[in-house]
Amino acid sequence: MVSLRVLFGLLPALGAAVPSAALRRDVSSPLLEEFNRFSQYTAASNCLANHNGSSAGSPVYCDAGFCPLIKEADTEIIKGFWGLSPGDTTGYLALDRTQKLIVLAFRGTVSDENGWTDLMLGYTDAATACDGCKAHKGFWGASTAAMDNLTSTIDTAVAQNSDYKLVVTGHSLGGAIATLAAVRLRNAGHTLDLYTFGAPSVGNLAFAQYITDQGSGNNYRLTHGPDEVPKVLYKTSRHWLFHILVPEYSQSSPEYWITSGVGVSVAESDIKFIEGVNNETGNLGTQEVTMAPHGWYMGNMSVCAQT
Ligand SMILES: *[C@@H]1O[C@H](CO)[C@@H](O)[C@H](O)[C@H]1NC(C)=O
Ligand SMILES: *[C@@H]1O[C@H](CO)[C@@H](O)[C@H](O)[C@H]1NC(C)=O
Ligand SMILES: *[C@@H]1O[C@H](CO)[C@@H](O)[C@H](O)[C@H]1NC(C)=O
Ligand SMILES: *[C@@H]1O[C@H](CO)[C@@H](O)[C@H](O)[C@H]1NC(C)=O
Repeated sequence: MVSLRVLFGLLPALGAAVPSAALRRDVSSPLLEEFNRFSQYTAASNCLANHNGSSAGSPVYCDAGFCPLIKEADTEIIKGFWGLSPGDTTGYLALDRTQKLIVLAFRGTVSDENGWTDLMLGYTDAATACDGCKAHKGFWGASTAAMDNLTSTIDTAVAQNSDYKLVVTGHSLGGAIATLAAVRLRNAGHTLDLYTFGAPSVGNLAFAQYITDQGSGNNYRLTHGPDEVPKVLYKTSRHWLFHILVPEYSQSSPEYWITSGVGVSVAESDIKFIEGVNNETGNLGTQEVTMAPHGWYMGNMSVCAQT
């Protein structure tokens, strides 16, 4: 987290148009439950017990009280992974037999190497994913290494549980890696749903458009208020001065923008549905430079920080 905080701390308030009032479209109660479920699975990717080397075969662990939807389900870790290089990518692949899910969850920024990955914000060519696509070098390198390691295990899990739904999820850096993993898995023929929480942009406009239109499952890109992380690359790459340092970054559609505060539970009416690549009606149009909303999505994203 340290390196990211340093980067964001250095950025002054960035100029942009004042956002117009958000259009209200209700998020249904079943969708709210899915947001809660995958927020909990994502938070659990912090827990050492889920990726400590002997986690396979155990239920998904989460700090007592923080993850009721995981607790009440019949879960089993298929593979915990850690230190995948480059990027020090960490997380787990698990079954949720109650909901018939295969969940691939990526941890956010914890280690220094994770922080350096975040800061490798030049482009790399991503034409192997889609025509005209350029990707964030750090996220692309980390996701490529992770998927080289994980793909055969995922393929096997999908083949053995053909009536299960594959879901890829992550918070922050983990959300960026989840997004690129989802692109790659869909390109390889998988159908899956993607849930990200406070994920930074992963690439240029062509890439954001590709993610938006790819199909083979739904994308749920959650943001929270003025959270700096999902908007910083978009904004700096359009800033009158900083665009010299940061190439063009875009954000995919749709966005589910949480408008309630930090530390309070999120209701259906607190989440605004925002359609359109780079739509500034939600998080991208907010002015405040703050990391406070980043640690709270459907709940506290820092559970298990030490365990
Ligand atoms: C590793 O995780 C497993 C499953 O959660 C747990 O039973 C075990 O005690 C953990 N081992 C260590 C050394 O933390
Ligand atoms: C995945 O990475 C781990 C740890 O680096 C390594 O032991 C394992 O052999 C790798 N598996 C594959 C399929 O690449
Ligand atoms: C989230 O959890 C962390 C670690 O348990 C704690 O330090 C922090 O205060 C919590 N944040 C909120 C907003 O409750
Ligand atoms: C941005 O999102 C708002 C709210 O969903 C919508 O009313 C508006 O048409 C969108 N703008 C564009 C350019 O897609």
